Amino acid sequence: MIFDIYSISSDINMENRSIVSIADYGKEKIQYLLDMATEFEAHPNRQILKGKVVATLFFEPSTRTRLSFETAANRLGARVIGFTDPKVTSSSKGETLKDTIKMVSNYADVIVMRHKLEGAALYASEVTNVPIINAGDGSNLHPSQTMLDLYSIYKTQGTLENLNIYMVGDLKYGRTVHSLLMSMRKYNPTFHFIAPKELEMPEEYKLYCQQNNIKYIEQQDFTEDTIADADILYMTRVQRERFTDLMEYERVKDAYILRADMLGKCKDNMKILHPLPRVNEIEYDVDDSKHAYYFEQARNGLYAREALICDVLGITLDDIKNDTSII
Ligand code: CP
Repeated sequence: MIFDIYSISSDINMENRSIVSIADYGKEKIQYLLDMATEFEAHPNRQILKGKVVATLFFEPSTRTRLSFETAANRLGARVIGFTDPKVTSSSKGETLKDTIKMVSNYADVIVMRHKLEGAALYASEVTNVPIINAGDGSNLHPSQTMLDLYSIYKTQGTLENLNIYMVGDLKYGRTVHSLLMSMRKYNPTFHFIAPKELEMPEEYKLYCQQNNIKYIEQQDFTEDTIADADILYMTRVQRERFTDLMEYERVKDAYILRADMLGKCKDNMKILHPLPRVNEIEYDVDDSKHAYYFEQARNGLYAREALICDVLGITLDDIKNDTSII
């Protein structure tokens, strides 16, 4: 189900600084956020959010996104409220998302929300003045993940320009690959989409590539030779929770598994990313390879999310550079 965003009542607010998607961000804005993340990596502990309250509303499970947002808020001096399971909230009694958001808006300065429904973050952003940060809406988008992915790519490759990016696994339901693809449109990437037929990149994203002159190649081979010219190998989990037909899940769940012996022909600086959690699509023997970067990538989430929280609160890069509250 996708929320009908056109049937929202008259208290719609279009002025707030929510981050529902970063697909429309230009190079300047992305570089600005990368620079902010770099500042936070140098000094992650500050009091720049002292007195602020960050709410984390997780209607779906999470480890990294929630904990890194909460760590980001705590390390910057904010306090955190929220929930990790909607069953313990009044939404289990029938309270609507709109009312939940309006209630939490009475208490918090920023709302970080993950929800299973596509469009939920956009909907939430339109019923409150408090900035919403989309922490994943169904199989739609995951912009904070994209920001940390861009930061990870930038840090390891030294640029976002002209890269060969291989996306592997569940490209149908994978919101991280959808978000990343859109955010890279200005950087002349070449995407390779490697997925089983049932999980291939949806038509709307291929159309997006065509409309934005983004090069892409669809393939089903996944061998040492096919990944030899990758700069970034972006592995994804086949997401059991998105399937209505579990027999189909069983058929495709092991379609692509990366092993260490497949890395012999890779570019020296090729990095393997994965939004995590992994199930079995990356063998443990890959973890010791110089190409494995997924745990550092998750760490980068802290710095990227410190930047995003500050950005929605109107704290600028100059504010951060001039900040004297570093601990
Ligand atoms: N990458 C990511 O979204 O992980 P979590 O589901 O653990 O938050």
